[in-house]
Amino acid sequence: MCGIVGTIGEKALRTYLIEGLRSLEYRGYDSAGTSFLSNGEVTTYRLPGRVSDLDQLVPTSIEANAGIGHTRWATHGEPNFSNAHPHQSNKGWFTLVHNGVINNFRFLKRKLEQKGMTFASDTDTEVIVNLMEFHYLQGLTPLRAIKKTIEKLEGSYALAILFKEEPNRIYFAKLHSPLVIGKGEKTHYLASDYLPMLAYAQTFYIVTDYQYGYIEAQHIIVKHLDKNEEIPIRFHTTDLTIEDIGLNGYPHYMLKEIEEAPEVIQRLSYNYFDGNQFLFDDVLLEKIHQADQLIFLACGTSYHAALVGRRYFEEIGKTCRVYVASEFAYYPEVKGQKPLFIVISQSGETADLIRCVQLIKQRGNALLTITNTKGSSLDRASDFSLLLYAGMEIAVASTKAYIAQVGLLAILRAALIHNNDVMTDLVGVIQAMKSVIDSRQDIETMAQAIMHAPSAFFLGRGLDYDVALEASLKLKEITYIHSEALPGGELKHGPIALIAKNVPVIAFISDPITAAAIRSNLEEVRARGANIFTISNLALAKDEDNFITPNVKVYLSPLVKVIVAQYLSYYAALHLQRDIDKPRNLAKSVTVE
Ligand code: M6R
Repeated sequence: MCGIVGTIGEKALRTYLIEGLRSLEYRGYDSAGTSFLSNGEVTTYRLPGRVSDLDQLVPTSIEANAGIGHTRWATHGEPNFSNAHPHQSNKGWFTLVHNGVINNFRFLKRKLEQKGMTFASDTDTEVIVNLMEFHYLQGLTPLRAIKKTIEKLEGSYALAILFKEEPNRIYFAKLHSPLVIGKGEKTHYLASDYLPMLAYAQTFYIVTDYQYGYIEAQHIIVKHLDKNEEIPIRFHTTDLTIEDIGLNGYPHYMLKEIEEAPEVIQRLSYNYFDGNQFLFDDVLLEKIHQADQLIFLACGTSYHAALVGRRYFEEIGKTCRVYVASEFAYYPEVKGQKPLFIVISQSGETADLIRCVQLIKQRGNALLTITNTKGSSLDRASDFSLLLYAGMEIAVASTKAYIAQVGLLAILRAALIHNNDVMTDLVGVIQAMKSVIDSRQDIETMAQAIMHAPSAFFLGRGLDYDVALEASLKLKEITYIHSEALPGGELKHGPIALIAKNVPVIAFISDPITAAAIRSNLEEVRARGANIFTISNLALAKDEDNFITPNVKVYLSPLVKVIVAQYLSYYAALHLQRDIDKPRNLAKSVTVE
């Protein structure tokens, strides 16, 4: 989490920093800050709050050679003034912004305190900047002091560093947190991702782990911690455009992203099927066939997509397991001789997954990553990589990425069994999605009926249970209403004790095999006064249903039902006046464990 920016040689320096931070706010929004370096003077502005507050604070007239900025998701220390970045070393030689977490910071802090250094914040970051100064004052050059410092750090970092006496240079370093360099005309930029740089830079370089160096207006040096020589770098372009990241008339990114679902399926279809055949690497398909176990690892929404994926692959005879990554990371359990790990992540930067990938690598097992972010840490770490082509997802609540994950897993399953029908089935899904989008007002009415409840329950069986889990996560994430998802049959084994008059119970009904069973579970809660909402499909509809989706093949029903769930949360949050795209306490990419 946290977003960092930096630039040197840019005339519109303040604009780049402020607007860049605004575009990175999805990574964290507890506090914000910038530092400007000019003629040996560093001026810092920082505060708890949003980038819009920082914009008010930084004088519009400010000019400088170099600048860095930060938007924070608090890990060490509450979001207050002294914990806001940038942080400066005791004697002011170094000023830096940091995205990541330093695990051994207490140990390092103690050592520095013993040497007489003082600390003004609770952050791990202040240790880094003071350690740099400590090494510098031992007689090292700034670059060597930085190298020596990062050699001692355990954890993750992307750093942009100002050195007081070098106004024409910004140093950087990276380990397990993303960092991209952009090259403009007579300028260079640093940022946590492409977004801040799209209007400025033409080509980009993704800094990889253990690299460090500096940018100047027309010059860039990249080194590797273990090597002496400079690393030759090759800049690349990106397909992302400013239009891709705009709101395009929508009031919220979440709404825009929900309504992009049909496009997402369309894009997946042409990226993985050419009209005649599937476009997957044969070696990957063979690897999946050969694997005696498929182990899915993911977090949050991506985990819910993996649950659907498991059903797809089990149905064609594969043995599958699905783990929440943060659990697997500490309790890895691998049975079988030829497992294939399938790691699913929108961002490709999730720390819990990166930790798992380190384990997988140590074990020498094969790894397929499914991510939405080309060049991300997970994409690069993989033996096989499949991209989601969902386009940039900016709202913290994940919507279209889930669509792409489930859609891709369905296409991959079909490729393994050479069944092209999936492509026609997906055309039906696109039509059904459009019809749900057209009827969104009915979902808004439902949302208004549940939004004042302190707690809500989502029910489903089979694939509908998987959707219920995602629906529940979405509701709690952006409305702050407590909610639970349950397999319909589990209610009577305990949770029914929580059902009282007017408690909302929302059920998904898509599968003829379980439709009757789930409806009888609903009768059990109706008898206890629950306020029931049913979301069924045409084939299984009853007069009393609240929302009826068009029919699609049952295995693809999560792709349609989830849109109803996403709208339900969106509209409830809207009428509750929540900060929909930036819900409290959250950040888009969870780059800390
Ligand atoms: O980028 P990832 O898919 O790895 O992120 C995983 C979760 O952090 C993410 O899905 C999270 O649960 C979303 N905010 C849910 O809407």
